[in-house]
Amino acid sequence: MCGIFGYIGHRNASKLLVKGLLRLEYRGYDSSGVVVKNGQLQSYKDIGKISEMASSLPRMKGSMGIAHTRWATHGGVTQDNAHPHLSNDGKVAIVHNGILQNSDTLRKRLVKLGVKLNSETDSEIFCHYIAMELDRGKEPLEALQNVLALTRGTWGLCVLFEDYDFVLCARNGSPLIIGRGKDEMFISSDPHAIREHTDQLVALEDGQIAKLNSLDFQVMQTDGKEVKSNLLDLEEDWGESELGDYPHFMLKEIHEQSQSLQHCISGRLRHAEGTSVLGGLQIRPQELAQLPHVRLIGCGTALHAAQIGQILIEQWARIPAVSHVASEFNANDPVINPKALHLAISQSGETADTLSAVKEIQRKGADVYGVVNVVGSSIARQCGKGVYIHSGPEQSVASTKAFTNMVGALALFALQLGRSRHLSKTKGKSITREMRMLPDKIRSYLENPGSIDEAVELVTKAKSVLFLGRGISSPVASEGALKLMEIAYIPCLAYPAGEMKHGPIALIEQDYPVVVIAPNDGVQDRTLNAIHECKARGAKIILIHEEGDPISEVGDVCISIPSTIPMLTPLLSVLPTQLIAYHAALALENDVDRPRNLAKSVTVE
Ligand code: AGP
Repeated sequence: MCGIFGYIGHRNASKLLVKGLLRLEYRGYDSSGVVVKNGQLQSYKDIGKISEMASSLPRMKGSMGIAHTRWATHGGVTQDNAHPHLSNDGKVAIVHNGILQNSDTLRKRLVKLGVKLNSETDSEIFCHYIAMELDRGKEPLEALQNVLALTRGTWGLCVLFEDYDFVLCARNGSPLIIGRGKDEMFISSDPHAIREHTDQLVALEDGQIAKLNSLDFQVMQTDGKEVKSNLLDLEEDWGESELGDYPHFMLKEIHEQSQSLQHCISGRLRHAEGTSVLGGLQIRPQELAQLPHVRLIGCGTALHAAQIGQILIEQWARIPAVSHVASEFNANDPVINPKALHLAISQSGETADTLSAVKEIQRKGADVYGVVNVVGSSIARQCGKGVYIHSGPEQSVASTKAFTNMVGALALFALQLGRSRHLSKTKGKSITREMRMLPDKIRSYLENPGSIDEAVELVTKAKSVLFLGRGISSPVASEGALKLMEIAYIPCLAYPAGEMKHGPIALIEQDYPVVVIAPNDGVQDRTLNAIHECKARGAKIILIHEEGDPISEVGDVCISIPSTIPMLTPLLSVLPTQLIAYHAALALENDVDRPRNLAKSVTVE
């Protein structure tokens, strides 16, 4: 989604800005632009790829500038709506992430004052109001403070001035990180975009403003009171993520799952005791004894992982657990029990809906543990406790290896919770034994993935595709449907297998593809009923089953996965669904890694 990069130093700013934008590219955007101070403010912006914008960029000589990737919210995808926005006198330039709720009122007020508006965006108002404050004789900092006092909404905002040698930044609900280099400063909405330049990072908190020149920066509250800011500890080097020999990040990330799951579980399993230890999720025995329930929240793929986590926690720890769509969580004034355990699941750690649910839970007196991939991200910092899932950088918009590691981390947690309650050591050991074998099983499946091409042929010809699964396979069906829908643009429906006869069966006609996730998990016989009901109406069954299972007789296209214990099957059964989505998108000539309209990090509610 929208991204910000800024530079103040002694090197050519435009080159560094473009490089910074390219680092943010995977997050999703539809236009981009830069503005550099070279005596005057010189800006350029366009719709489309950053590389195209950069190739048309005029020569820019300055060493101070700000840049932006835009993902349209207010106003269409046009050059005018792209950032940066400049005041009409050309003296103030802004880039903004977030949404202003009262922008209509503020825009109307500007029009009444005779200010010419150049875009349809909410963001543009910032540069005009700041310019008006400067015209009234205010200093830049006071001008910004006054304008922020007028606005309602969220912002990660950077302001560049023609007449001043510093940049002002402000954060409210949209991340901004400052990086200190040697006689140079960096600003970004994503710490990992700065990491190649410096590891001296500071995250602005909500309600803070920063003033930066090439040598130093000050962080203050909106009222101007200076605050001490702490260096951000990113703990691990995020490293470079290059494509290598892979044609797409999605395929690369699918194939990394064996290794990344290994990374997630290594050092955390205690086979001799049949348990696991997640340092960040240690709960005092007394609290554990009184734990009334567990709530898990997330969006999209993270929600599906949360739904699996819910089942694992109930099965292994026998504690009531429920998962919630994060974007719906705050809508109904949820009742929060401070004694309950809350888990926020997120790959990016920046999903605004999830972050907002975390804040609501905290506001109502409970703690939230993060189950997050991106180290130092907003959700990780807001929660202040939890675990990292250690997937490494995930660049494809379609999440794959983060899903496996979310489920892996939640399985470790459910096991730890279960063993501290009633789960026997013998049962615990059977789980740890299976978990240790999973990375190899993932690798062995990916080396020989079965009839993916046949499945792709069926789904790419279809008007829509139905995904079915029962019990712990039901969220896997949802995940498979999401993946196919988001990158192949094929309408997909996911249903618990037993619900199929209550409505979706109306879709079935001759050759209609139905993907059924049917591991040998104790509920398979009832999934079989749904399969027969579909077949009786002419459906073609794409069956994902465990190797050697006689259920394969009912499949039209059969994809066999290695066997494991029922509760861990999602970590294997999801793999063919990822490959089907990937190859279907490829067959339809879609942009696999950057599907239309989607963003990797959804930073608006
Ligand atoms: C996954 O393929 C999607 N692109 C999307 O649903 C994603 O999982 C969702 O936006 C949540 O993101 P997060 O894990 O970064 O919070």
